[in-house]
Amino acid sequence: MSTHPEALTPNHQTVVAADTLCVYYDGGCPLCRAEIASYQRTEGGESLRWVDAHAGSPAELGPDLDAATALARMHVRRADGTLLRGAAAFAEIWSHLPRWRWLARLARLPGMLPVLDQLYTVFLVIRPLWRGRSGATVSEAFPRELLRELRTDHAGETGAVMIYRGVLAITRKPELRAFARHHLETEQRHLGLIEAVVPPRSRSALLPLWRLSGWLTGAVPALFGPRAVYATIQAVETFVDRHYAAQIEQIDALTEPDPSASANATAIAGDARVTAHLEKLEQLRDLLVSCQADEVAHRNDAGSRWNNKPGPLMRLWLGMVGHGSAHAVRVCRYV
Ligand SMILES: [Fe+2]
Ligand SMILES: [Fe+2]
Repeated sequence: MSTHPEALTPNHQTVVAADTLCVYYDGGCPLCRAEIASYQRTEGGESLRWVDAHAGSPAELGPDLDAATALARMHVRRADGTLLRGAAAFAEIWSHLPRWRWLARLARLPGMLPVLDQLYTVFLVIRPLWRGRSGATVSEAFPRELLRELRTDHAGETGAVMIYRGVLAITRKPELRAFARHHLETEQRHLGLIEAVVPPRSRSALLPLWRLSGWLTGAVPALFGPRAVYATIQAVETFVDRHYAAQIEQIDALTEPDPSASANATAIAGDARVTAHLEKLEQLRDLLVSCQADEVAHRNDAGSRWNNKPGPLMRLWLGMVGHGSAHAVRVCRYV
């Protein structure tokens, strides 16, 4: 397999071996969902393992594949653990489905896979436009105030990924690197989940600034050592916990039944659009609750690693982090 153009390097192999081909797809993308559903329905589809990278856990993806990578490009894992991506992944799926085997043979003719990969890359570039249109009803189902908050969540998770990248760029201490890598994995999953809810056109225009701020929020304390990083993460996650809690309350207020509407309850319950709207809010609530639980675990993990007695300089820094996060959220609601 090492000669295969899209097979990943040998040290990325044989990590999550299973007895069948495993397909990692983006269940948050309506186009991808429709395509995968057609494969699942066809003969042979029932014998493959389908993992929605949008909702799956890191364990389901394996240690060599994070959610953001899986959501960005189609990946499959062969029974021997070999990971394939892009056109090679599609060819592998087709080769397992009798109705599509001819296409696998065509795709594997000499020189074809690189061409198909180029076409797939073009599709990925235009997919957000397409996806934005098909996902419009999802985001438009949310009130404007909630959409503003979701924009801050997307910026926040983008910043969170960068915090840990900043830590990893500076520190060489094994314990701190293990801490940062572990948290980074969760933040990348969060970002993938939030990206699926917040279409590109609804994201903050200041993402480069949030990326840089996040990176500095990790890199600066890393220069001073693990204690400063743990204190910073504890402060950031305390803020994020409250931020998610406020949004969950906001959703609860939106989904609470209106007693004055009880006379029309049956009619309202029968309205498919209202039901779908409430379902989307419930799904969003579940997503935020699960992210919030991870952030609380991050906060507690960081808090348990230092003595929680900040000196004057540390207090000043933590104050800056807290105020900086609050200001960033305010700006991000509108830009
Ligand atoms: Fe997060
Ligand atoms: Fe976090």
